[in-house]
Amino acid sequence: MRLFTTLSTLALVTVTNACGDDHHLSFPEPNYSGDLGDFASFVKHMKQIAIEKDVDLLLIDSGDLHDGTGLSDGFPAGGIDAHETNQFLKQLPYDIMAIGNHELYDYVNTWDMHTNFAPALNGRYLSSNANITIFDENNNTVSVPVGNRYSKFTTRKGRKITSLGVLFDFTGNDVNTTVQTVADMVKEQWFTEAIAEEPDVFVLAGHMPVSYDNWPTVFNAIRDVHAETPIIILGGHTHIRDCNQPDGRSMALESGRYMETIGWLSAKLGNPNDSKSNITFGRRYLDQNRVTYEYHTQQRNNTFDTAEGQNITQGLQALSEKYELSTLFGYAPQDYTISRNQYPSNGSSLTLFINEAAPYSLTFNNTRKNVTNLMITNSGSQRFDVYAGTFDKNDQIAASPFLDAFVYIKNVQLGVAQQVLIALNTAGADERRKRDLGSVLQQREDELWKRGFVDRRYMDWLDEMDRRHDGAVKRASQNLTLGYVTSDSCPGVGDDTLHAPLASYDIPDFIGSDALSTSNDTLIDFVFVDFIQEQLLEILNEVQNTTTYSDSDVESYTDVLSNQVLRLDSNAGALFKDYCSLEPPGLVRAHACLATLTL
Ligand SMILES: *[C@@H]1O[C@H](CO)[C@@H](O)[C@H](O)[C@H]1NC(C)=O
Ligand SMILES: *[C@@H]1O[C@H](CO)[C@@H](O)[C@H](O)[C@H]1NC(C)=O
Ligand SMILES: *[C@@H]1O[C@H](CO)[C@@H](O)[C@H](O)[C@H]1NC(C)=O
Ligand SMILES: *[C@@H]1O[C@H](CO)[C@@H](O)[C@H](O)[C@H]1NC(C)=O
Ligand SMILES: *[C@@H]1O[C@H](CO)[C@@H](O)[C@H](O)[C@H]1NC(C)=O
Ligand SMILES: *[C@@H]1O[C@H](CO)[C@@H](O)[C@H](O)[C@H]1NC(C)=O
Ligand SMILES: *[C@@H]1O[C@H](CO)[C@@H](O)[C@H](O)[C@H]1NC(C)=O
Ligand SMILES: *[C@@H]1O[C@H](CO)[C@@H](O)[C@H](O)[C@H]1NC(C)=O
Ligand SMILES: *[C@@H]1O[C@H](CO)[C@@H](O)[C@H](O)[C@H]1NC(C)=O
Ligand SMILES: *[C@@H]1O[C@H](CO)[C@@H](O)[C@H](O)[C@H]1NC(C)=O
Ligand SMILES: *[C@@H]1O[C@H](CO)[C@@H](O)[C@H](O)[C@H]1NC(C)=O
Ligand SMILES: *[C@@H]1O[C@H](CO)[C@@H](O)[C@H](O)[C@H]1NC(C)=O
Repeated sequence: MRLFTTLSTLALVTVTNACGDDHHLSFPEPNYSGDLGDFASFVKHMKQIAIEKDVDLLLIDSGDLHDGTGLSDGFPAGGIDAHETNQFLKQLPYDIMAIGNHELYDYVNTWDMHTNFAPALNGRYLSSNANITIFDENNNTVSVPVGNRYSKFTTRKGRKITSLGVLFDFTGNDVNTTVQTVADMVKEQWFTEAIAEEPDVFVLAGHMPVSYDNWPTVFNAIRDVHAETPIIILGGHTHIRDCNQPDGRSMALESGRYMETIGWLSAKLGNPNDSKSNITFGRRYLDQNRVTYEYHTQQRNNTFDTAEGQNITQGLQALSEKYELSTLFGYAPQDYTISRNQYPSNGSSLTLFINEAAPYSLTFNNTRKNVTNLMITNSGSQRFDVYAGTFDKNDQIAASPFLDAFVYIKNVQLGVAQQVLIALNTAGADERRKRDLGSVLQQREDELWKRGFVDRRYMDWLDEMDRRHDGAVKRASQNLTLGYVTSDSCPGVGDDTLHAPLASYDIPDFIGSDALSTSNDTLIDFVFVDFIQEQLLEILNEVQNTTTYSDSDVESYTDVLSNQVLRLDSNAGALFKDYCSLEPPGLVRAHACLATLTL
C-alpha cells in the first residue's frame, strides 16, 4: 500500500514576525511566529521523512504572494511588490503553485510573476484561467497564461499527477490582465484535453474557497470523464480553515489566512486496481511556528535549522534592514484589535483609528483644524490588529496599509452627517440580511466579493467559532491559548493545536469620529475617505433635500493618507506617547518627532 501525502501552504508571505523579531508577545501571535526560513527547514525535514517512509510528499501553494507585510510591500520607490520575497520562495522545493488575486491587482506584479517568477517553477506555476497581455517578438500584443494552465508530472514514487491552478471569478484585476470565469474555463478545448488522460490522482490547487464557490464546476467536469479517479483540491482565498469531501475519493482543503496556518492533507491511495473503495484521507491545520515544526519533525531547537532555512532567515533580516522595517513609530501600551474587542471600546483598533488617531493626524498642520468635523472611513481600512509593544514600519504596513486620501464637504449639518453614517451601515447590514433575495444591494456586495474583499466571510467564521465553542467560558478557564477552533465537515479533529477561540464582535462596515458638538444644526466639515465617495454622496442626497451634492462639492482635506494616520498619532493615551525621548537616538525619523513636538 502506498501512501500519498500532500502539504499545502496558503501564503501571503507572512504578516507576523517574518524576520524573527519576536516583539509581539500577545497571543495568538506567538503561535504564528515562524518565518519562511523555519518553514524551509520544516519542509526539508519532512521531505526526508517522506523518503524514509517511502511516500510521496508534495509542497503546494494556493496563491497570494503579494501584499500584507513590510517584506513584500515595504519596497522603496521604483521597486516591485514582493519581487524580493519571491526570491526566497523560489528557494523552497514547491511542486505546484497557483496564482491568487493579489498577483493581479497591479500589472507590474503580474508581469514580474510571468517574467521572473514562473520560469523558476519549470511549468508548475499554474494560472489555468488568468492571462497577461504582453508584446510578442513582432511587437504585437498577445494574451498568454501568466504561468502554465496545467501541469502533468510524475512523482518520485512514479505516481502520475495532473494539476490545475484555478482562480475564483475575480473581477478586480488590472488592465492587460484577464481572468476567465471558471464556468468558461471548463468549456475550453485545452481543459478537455488536459483532463482526458487519466492520471493516478488529480491535484487541483487554486485560489478559490472550498465552500460556496466554483470548485464543484471543476470537480464535476473531471468526474464526468473520470468517475473514480482520486481528486485532491487545495483551495484558498476566504482566510478560513475549511475542509469537505465532494465524494468518497476526493477531499478539498483550505488552509486559513496569511502565513498563520500550514495545511496538511494525506491520502492512502491504496491499490491502483481498486478504483471503487473510499480513500482514507487525513487533514491537519498546523499553527505556523517552530514548536509545531520541531514536534512533527522530531527535532530539537538546536537540530532543527537547516543551512537553507537559516540562509533564508538571514536573507529576510537583511531585506528588513534594507527596507528599514524596524523604523520605530512608537509604542502601543496595549493590544488594539479589529474584531476581538467591541466597537467602540478602548481595545478596538477601529476606535483607536477613527476616534483618537484620525482627529489628530488629519487636522495636523491643517487650516481646517478649527472647524468642527465628523470623520468617516470604512472599517475594512484596518487590516490587522495592533499589538502591545513597539509599533514599527512593518506593523504599520500590516495594520493599515491602504493609501486612501481624505476629502471633505464643508457646511454639512452635523445631524445630517450622522444620519449618513447610520444609513451607510444600515445599507451594509441590509445587504447581508437580504443575501438570498437578489436585491440591488446584494449585487453590490457580490461585486465587492468578486473584487476580492473577503473580510466578511472570515469574520462570520470567527463569530460562528466563538458561539459554537463557548468562547467566553474557554477563554476564562485560561487553560488554552487563543487561536482557531475549527469545525469543518471532514472526519476527525482538524486543528493540530488546541486553542480557546478568539473573541468575536460584530463591527460596523463604516466607523465615524465623535463630533465635538451636541447641536445637530452645527455646520461641520464632513470628512471621509475618497474610496467611499460615490456611495456616500448617494446617501447624503437621500437623507436631506436642501442641497443636491455632487463631486464638485468634495475637496481635498489633507495630504495625510490613511496609512499615515496611526503613525502620526501622539494623542493622549494612544500610541507613540513621548517616543522622541524614549527611543535610542537615530531610530526615529526627524519628521516623526516633529509631529510630537508640535502638539
Ligand atoms: C517594438 O516597439 C518598440 C517601441 O514601441 C521599439 O523600440 C522596438 O524596436 C520594437 N521592436 C521590434 C522588434 O519591432
Ligand atoms: C489566454 O491565452 C491563451 C494563449 O495565448 C489564449 O489562447 C486565450 O484566448 C487567452 N484567454 C483569455 C481568457 O484571454
Ligand atoms: C495595455 O496594453 C496596451 C498594449 O500593450 C497598451 O497600449 C495600453 O496602454 C495598456 N493599457 C494600460 C492601461 O496600461
Ligand atoms: C464512501 O464515502 C461516501 C461519501 O463520503 C459515503 O457516502 C459512503 O457511505 C462511503 N462508503 C463507505 C463504504 O464507507
Ligand atoms: C533556539 O535556538 C536559537 C539559536 O539557533 C536561539 O536563538 C533561541 O533562543 C533558541 N530558542 C529556544 C526556545 O531555546
Ligand atoms: C542564500 O540566499 C541567497 C539569497 O538571499 C541566495 O542567493 C543563495 O543561493 C542562498 N544560498 C544557499 C546555499 O541556499
Ligand atoms: C505645514 O503645511 C505647510 C503648508 O502646506 C507646509 O509648507 C509645511 O511643511 C507643513 N509643516 C509640517 C510640519 O508638516
Ligand atoms: C482658528 O482659530 C484661531 C483662534 O481661535 C483663529 O485665530 C484663527 O483665525 C482660526 N483659523 C481659521 C482658519 O479659522
Ligand atoms: C440629531 O440627529 C441624530 C441623527 O439623525 C438623531 O438621532 C438625534 O435625535 C438628533 N438630535 C436632536 C436633538 O435632534
Ligand atoms: C483546565 O485545567 C484544569 C486542571 O488541569 C482541568 O481540571 C479543567 O478541566 C481544564 N479545563 C478545560 C476547559 O480544559
Ligand atoms: C502555541 O500555543 C500552545 C498552546 O495553545 C503553546 O503550548 C505553544 O507553546 C504555542 N507555541 C508557541 C510557539 O508559542
Ligand atoms: C424631501 O422633500 C419631500 C417633499 O418636499 C419631503 O416629503 C421629504 O420628507 C423630504 N425628505 C427629507 C429627508 O427631508
